[in-house]
Amino acid sequence: MSKVAIVTGGTRGIGASISKALRDEGYKVAASYAGNDEAAEQFREETGIAVYQWDVGDFDACAAGVKQVEDDFGPIEILVNNAGITRDVMFHRMTQKDWLDVINTNLNGLFNMTRNVWEDMRGRGFGRIVNISSINGQKGQMGQANYSAAKAGDLGFIKALAQEGARKGITVNTIAPGYIGTEMVLAVPQEVLEKKIIPNIPVGRLGEPEEIARCVLFLCSKDAGFITGSTLTANGGQYMV
Ligand code: CAA
Repeated sequence: MSKVAIVTGGTRGIGASISKALRDEGYKVAASYAGNDEAAEQFREETGIAVYQWDVGDFDACAAGVKQVEDDFGPIEILVNNAGITRDVMFHRMTQKDWLDVINTNLNGLFNMTRNVWEDMRGRGFGRIVNISSINGQKGQMGQANYSAAKAGDLGFIKALAQEGARKGITVNTIAPGYIGTEMVLAVPQEVLEKKIIPNIPVGRLGEPEEIARCVLFLCSKDAGFITGSTLTANGGQYMV
């Protein structure tokens, strides 16, 4: 096995923890990022993990990015579709751009990346696809019609693709994190976070990115070969499916 992993959005937040966890498991990791060069460079310096800049919303850029990683490290064994953005706003104020930006990155990005690794994984008879969905794709969230739609789309995507990958040794799963203590969640208005969100998390705290990274490691392991098409919820008990 080539032990090469791509983590999209892999230089910050949950993605950075996933990149480091896979590196610690012995994978050659390629962490992609969209545009924050400074954060990516700092991540590269601190971790020694290779970083690549491309937009997961752009199919051709994903094709070129995947090819570059393959040229540098070899065939891709693991793809973690983690890249995601929010444009939170009540629907009566949501612009078409707010909608399209989120759908393009969070949902079209799944197609753009997965399609570009899929045929090779089929050919080699092994692959692990793990997506990062969200509690808000499961339960919906006011202010997130765009994000909830995209993250719910992920839940259908993995169920369909898991059926296609099953006979080819490819598992396709998603993780639905709850509120994790990253920049994305800390951007929520503090009053909303403290008064409306954290009190609804039975364990009484935000999750940690490493807690999601450990879920990814498990789903990528050989031991998880019988698990495909599943959604692993990791939300501190906030929503039970
Ligand atoms: N849960 C419960 N209540 C919420 C809420 C939430 N997540 N978000 C907003 N509300 C409530 C507010 O407390 C407020 O209630 P009151 O009128 O009783 O005070 C009401 O909804 C309207 O909110 P605002 O006054 O803040 O209205 P606004 O128009 O200025 O902003 C908003 C609306 C954009 C939705 C803003 O409240 C917001 O950003 N909320 C957080 C939305 C959220 O949870 N986003 C998740 C981001 S993290 C993420 O996406 C990662 C992940 O996968 C979990």
